[in-house]
Parts: sequence; C-alpha cells; structure tokens
Amino acid sequence: MKVVLAFSGGLDTSVMVKWLQEQYGYDVVTLTLDVGQGKDLKKVEEKAWSLGVVNHYSIDAKEEFINHYVIPAIKANALYMDAYPVSSSLSRPLIASKLVEVAELEGAEAVAHGCTGKGNDQVRFDITIKALNPKLKIIAPVREWNMTRDKEIEYAKEHGIPIPASVDSPYSIDQNLWGRSIECGVLEYPEKEPPEEVYEWTVPPEKAPDEPEYITIGFQEGVPTSLNGEEMTPLKLVEKVKVIAGGHGVGRIDHIEDRIVGLKSREVYECPAAITLLKAHFDLEKMVLTRHEKLFKRMVDHQWAYLIYAGLWMDPLKEALDAFIDKTQERVTGEVTLKLYKGNAHVVGRSSPYSLYDLNLATYDISSTFDQTAAVGFIELWGLPTITAWSIKKILKS
Ligand code: ARG
Repeated sequence: MKVVLAFSGGLDTSVMVKWLQEQYGYDVVTLTLDVGQGKDLKKVEEKAWSLGVVNHYSIDAKEEFINHYVIPAIKANALYMDAYPVSSSLSRPLIASKLVEVAELEGAEAVAHGCTGKGNDQVRFDITIKALNPKLKIIAPVREWNMTRDKEIEYAKEHGIPIPASVDSPYSIDQNLWGRSIECGVLEYPEKEPPEEVYEWTVPPEKAPDEPEYITIGFQEGVPTSLNGEEMTPLKLVEKVKVIAGGHGVGRIDHIEDRIVGLKSREVYECPAAITLLKAHFDLEKMVLTRHEKLFKRMVDHQWAYLIYAGLWMDPLKEALDAFIDKTQERVTGEVTLKLYKGNAHVVGRSSPYSLYDLNLATYDISSTFDQTAAVGFIELWGLPTITAWSIKKILKS
C-alpha cells in the first residue's frame, strides 16, 4: 500500500520516508510544492529518490499560491491578532489539497505530513484532508514517534539518511512568498530580543539606508498589479516588493500568539512584502469604501484571518466571506505611494478614480461646498440619544 508524504527535504521528513517504510511497510510517494520557499526542488527530488521512494512529485505552485491564497488575503487585509499576515497558515490548505490530489492519482490509502502535535499546522492539514477525502488515513509521524532531535539524527545515521547542514540550526523555519516564520531556540524566551541571526529577508532597521525610498503600488479591484507604474503579475510584484521593502528593514514581526491548540507562543516573522502591500491596500480601501462598508468589512476581515489561522479554509463560511469581500473590491482600484524608511512603510499618498474624497467638501477654502449651517441641525439629532440619557442621569442623581 502507498502513502503520499509532504516532503520538504529537511531532517524530519527525510527520516519519515524510512520510518513509514519500516513502521508501516508502506511504499512512500513524496510530494514537494514550490510556494516560494527558495529551495532547489531538483535537489529535494534527488534526495527523495535516494531515500527509496516509489514516486516523487515536484509541483510549482507559486502562481496558484499567489492567485488563490495570497490575493484573497490581501483583499481581506488579513492579519491574525492584528499582527501576523497568516503566511504559513495560507500555504497549508494548498499543500494539503495537493496531497489529496496525488493520493487519489496514486491510489494511495494514506497521506502523511511532518507537523508536530502542538502546532497549528496539523489542524490545517488534517481538516483540509478530511474535508476533501474522508477515506484517506492521515499519518503524522512526529505526533506518534516520540523521537527527540538527537534520536532522529541517530536514526538518520543508522539508515544512511543524509543529514542536512541546517541540522545545527536551533531554529525551525517555514517560508513562502508571503513570509518567513522563525521559531524555537532562544526565541522561546519572549522577554529576550530575537538575535539578528534569525532574520534573512530584512536588514536591521538601524542599518537600513539613510535615504528613504518611495514606491507606488497600483491596485485593480483589490489586486496589486503595478509597481512604480510598471504592470506586472502579482507574483512578480510580491517578489520585488519583498526585496525592496526588506532592504529597508520593513516587515519584522515579534508578538505573542494564541495558537488554535490553546497555548500562547512567541512568534517571530519577517514579511516585508505582506506588511507593505497590506498597508497600501488598507489605505486605498479607506479612500473608496463608505464609512459603513469599512466598519462592517473590519469585522469580516477579522473573521477571515481568524478562520484561515484556525485551519478552517474549507469551511463554507470562508466562501461566503469571500463573496462579500469580492463585492467590496470592485472599487478598490488606484495607486498608493509608500515611503520606506528604517523599518517602516508609511503611506504618503493615494489616488483612485473611485475616490470618495471630495476636495470641494473637505477644503477650508472659500470654495468649499460644505454647508456649515446644516451642522447645527445634524448635531441636534445625532446627539439626541446621548443628551436625553444625560438629562435622566441628572434627575436620578439629584
Ligand atoms: N505560528 C505560525 C502559524 O501558526 C507559524 C507556523 C510555522 N510552521 C512551522 N512548521 N514552522 O501559522
């Protein structure tokens, strides 16, 4: 019988190939997705074959990841706990759905992944897999094998599994086009500042260039489609903004996160493209959406990010929220200029053909068309409930 394993090429999933062969007697099929983690998929594939897999799939999923996962996240201004752009969270339902696809293609009875039993990723994988194909058995070796890092290395040596150089790193890293997550080691002490060595995509803000850099992002219906006036695919744009913003130290995140499984953890990320593009998008929405749309969309946005973080990508609620969000994006077209400087991305200008900003109304010039005399009657009625309540309060007190 076959099992399809989500294979990154790291120590855990390499050990898993042998372990699944030994422990379960499975023929192992490996699957590696390119979601922009910056690994050489050829090398990962070679490694898989060397471990004795019966088949291997490498899938370039970058376009799919951007178009079907990252773009909806931009439209939803998705920040879990107002801080984390759900970068790792977003890739899980995509990887899980490909696992199911390949398992069905291969006639496999099971799928396997390298998630631990105390993280969020297992929840995201398992729910997506079960929703798409409840017949598939799910094996998460790390949840059952009780191996420490040292035991794993010992097991690898015994079985001739090449040990990656990254094994000496105390950190657990997950990265894709939308961001990079760094966990473990000294980062588990939330009172200590993350050491500089954990960052790879961002320069230290204090060492960023002394000259600010201005960039202009163009949006079409909520989708970023141009950079400094040049049209490009959202994938290209995200890749470019990542480098430019990272060069100014933009996108470092360090916060305390409520995991789905109940515990709090200290999480460190670097998400230069996400932080920059989310700021730009949110700012443009402020210009084109009515106050009422915006207030309501805030709730929807929060719910969207929460759902994705919580592993519920497959819940019908997500599709319903997407329908609302897509409707609001019809007018989110325009340009936003940001100033990148020493770790910050400040919006400094915006324009849109659908702008609700009316200079004639807003100006304090003589040319203003705003009827100031109408304010008196407005205040009378707007304040009526509050003023009435106070009149009663006064009576009660005396
Ligand atoms: N805390 C983040 C999340 O739950 C990051 C998870 C990173 N995953 C990993 N396997 N290192 O989305």
